[in-house]
Amino acid sequence: MILVTGGAGYVGSHTVMALLECGKEVIVFDSLELGHMEIIDALKKLGNLKFVKGNLKTLDDIRGVFLSNKNIEAVIHFAAYSRVEESVKNPQKYYYNNVYGTLNLLNAMLEFGVNKIVFSSTAATYGEPVYTPIDEKHPQQPINPYGMSKLMVEKIMDDYDKAYGLKSVRLRYFNVAGADSSARIGEWHDEETHLIPNILKATSDKTFKMFGTDYNTVDGTCVRDYINVEDLANAHIKALDYLNKGGETNYFNLGTKSGNSVKEVFAACEKVKGAHIPLDVCARRAGDPAILVADNSRAKEVLNWNPKNDLNYSINTAYEWEKVLETMV
Ligand code: UFG
Repeated sequence: MILVTGGAGYVGSHTVMALLECGKEVIVFDSLELGHMEIIDALKKLGNLKFVKGNLKTLDDIRGVFLSNKNIEAVIHFAAYSRVEESVKNPQKYYYNNVYGTLNLLNAMLEFGVNKIVFSSTAATYGEPVYTPIDEKHPQQPINPYGMSKLMVEKIMDDYDKAYGLKSVRLRYFNVAGADSSARIGEWHDEETHLIPNILKATSDKTFKMFGTDYNTVDGTCVRDYINVEDLANAHIKALDYLNKGGETNYFNLGTKSGNSVKEVFAACEKVKGAHIPLDVCARRAGDPAILVADNSRAKEVLNWNPKNDLNYSINTAYEWEKVLETMV
């Protein structure tokens, strides 16, 4: 049985779907503060899934999961706050939840003898890029508490491996995009900040705001590496296999090695929607680096992971999911 924390959230739920489709037994632990029960209900139709509502900040909540499920082989850990701007305004919330919460999880794993974890890390651990594309040797100098909270967990995991033999794979995501190809689940943030859903949700009353057109890039807008969520979910399955085969603690960038500008993404969304999308050009958003692109060679070589879905596929699936989501909220 695989324990998935944060399995009711965006990347978590797509990974749970992939695990269930591989015939794995899954237990999701989620506080439902940001995740949604409707997502769990959709996933329950696909296989052997147990759900436990709980919070990692409460040690007994997570100990309880291990106490009543003695067959947990490994953990995939998504549960975290992930909004960069919020983390700058409220670092306490980020360090308490993302670091202390993870410590509770790791300590419970040690107590119950579970020694394999796949951790959802981020490109935000690198900070302002020194060179591009970014490989895993790039300096890790986060410029916000969100990135720092994830880096701290990476460091703790190194020490827990050396001292206790707890093996981890840290997956550093670039920009995640898209939804399940059958629109059963998708990205669902009550307050959306991400580019693609914001473009797709735009109306004449709530126009899409393009943050900054004066960057030193191909067309003046920021360039990001959009990695499809199903490809990303698949990388978690590969990481689990890697650990199961005795793989050492490791870390991988997950991206496509190619970037698209905000203007390119906007044009692709208009094409998918087949309509003009209302747009306002605004000032830069604080803290956005001009270009973030992943060198994904290591994940390709070591995990034998090959992302196959392109940006158009991600936008198409995201759009189909948006239509479903509109009927749910
Ligand atoms: N953007 C807009 N308008 C919007 C939303 C975004 O113009 O309404 C622009 C942003 O300014 C940025 C690009 O679109 O240039 C991508 O923005 P996102 O918010 O979609 O993604 P980020 O690159 O800011 O953040 C992502 C993850 C974070 C992670 C970060 C790593 O969502 O969790 O990458 O740097 F920390």
